[in-house]
Amino acid sequence: MASDSLSITDNRTGKTYEVPIKYGTFPLYGASIRGADLKNIKVSEEDFGLMSFDPSFLNSASCQSAITFIDGERGILRYRGYPIEQLAEQSNYLEVAYLLLHGALPNKAQYDAWVHDITYHTIVHENMKEVFHGFHYDAHPMPMLISTLAALSTFYPASRNVMDEGVRMLQIYRLLGKVITLAAMAYRHTQGLPYVMPDNDLSYVGNFMNMLWRKAECRYNPNPVLERALDVLFILHADHEQNCSTNAMRVVASSQSDPYCSAAAAAAALYGPLHGGANEAVLTMLRQIGSKDKVPQFIKDVKDRKALLMGFGHRVYKNYDPRAKVIKRLADEVFDVTGKNPLIELAVELERIALQDDFFVSRKLFPNVDFYSGIIYEAMGMPSEYFTVVFAVPRMAGWLAQWQEMILDTEQKIARPRQVYTGVAIRDYEPIEKRSAK
Ligand code: ACO
Repeated sequence: MASDSLSITDNRTGKTYEVPIKYGTFPLYGASIRGADLKNIKVSEEDFGLMSFDPSFLNSASCQSAITFIDGERGILRYRGYPIEQLAEQSNYLEVAYLLLHGALPNKAQYDAWVHDITYHTIVHENMKEVFHGFHYDAHPMPMLISTLAALSTFYPASRNVMDEGVRMLQIYRLLGKVITLAAMAYRHTQGLPYVMPDNDLSYVGNFMNMLWRKAECRYNPNPVLERALDVLFILHADHEQNCSTNAMRVVASSQSDPYCSAAAAAAALYGPLHGGANEAVLTMLRQIGSKDKVPQFIKDVKDRKALLMGFGHRVYKNYDPRAKVIKRLADEVFDVTGKNPLIELAVELERIALQDDFFVSRKLFPNVDFYSGIIYEAMGMPSEYFTVVFAVPRMAGWLAQWQEMILDTEQKIARPRQVYTGVAIRDYEPIEKRSAK
């Protein structure tokens, strides 16, 4: 009997089954058995076989992936093996996007070509303005982004040919290029400002800032400190392995839907307050708390289950989210330019009190990426409903990298979970006049 295996005895039949254990890069992190092996465990020939029941995927690996590694117990995050702290310090967002998609850092020629190809795909079709005009003046910018990502599909019908490598690469350039333009258009729409078209002489992030904030000046010059801070925030948000939105991207794309519609689905998943929408919810929460003296009462409300401490807790991290550490440090650099956002002191006090409280300590609840990011975005001048859009923009690189990996993975098929049926076994149809009110 192989030592790297499980012996499972079915006490219903007394039969023992040997199930091989599979490993990833780290033997103590990611050892797994194949769910399909459980299907052989049956009480009779007619039996469907055993399934694993795992609502919300608490402990199920849906794929093998070589993109991002997280050790949630130790607060480690690496893209393609590179620690997030090194990338945040030394790299830039487009280089990180290349790394995620290609698996290695680019040389100078590869980097220049990559930046060029993305930069020259930032313009959107003029008709896209009409799509935006259809939205109400106070529409939330996130559903606008979600809808217009899907709308891109109507301009590029050939994108459906997802098995063609050249077609895939072209859509990758387009999605990385156009997401900043659409995101900025969503912002300008809410502000009643004319749309600004891309300026290809600016950096990716500088161009995004230009499309957000350019007013009547001939040329927009991004503040270099804010440009770098936003670039670091983009690096930190670029990928996070099999989170809710990435899983949505993979699931939708597994039916060979085109990448625009798949990315729209991913963005829709990100919108929820338990996921990327938490950055907006944190600001709402801080405003509701109002002042430091109200923090103990708020913490009591959380413990009494009357509220959630937004920006705290994570399915995978049971330690301080390494991205939150970088963001907390970044805040001071931004405040030197913008002036201090007074909410930072409230957030720091909330963190201090929460991390001393057994409710949070025993459940290993720490600040996540969303706890401090919104305070920085607000200091830069963004309204809170825009924060999740600024999360979605850089996450596009991760969604696309995961999409490409899934398409090339010969083991992947259309995503289709099983269920444990708990409904009525069978009954006969009754005409409506014979049905009693229940
Ligand atoms: N405030 C109060 N209690 C919490 C919080 C929180 N923010 N997060 C978790 N808990 C409690 C739960 O009530 C639960 O307690 P119990 O065991 O006594 O019932 C325990 O901690 C475990 O939490 P789960 O909900 O089981 O953890 P799960 O992995 O399902 O949820 C999630 C993770 C959704 C992130 C959760 O921590 C949460 O809702 N946080 C607030 C929203 C948030 O910040 N989301 C952003 C996450 S990062 C991202 O997606 C980019």
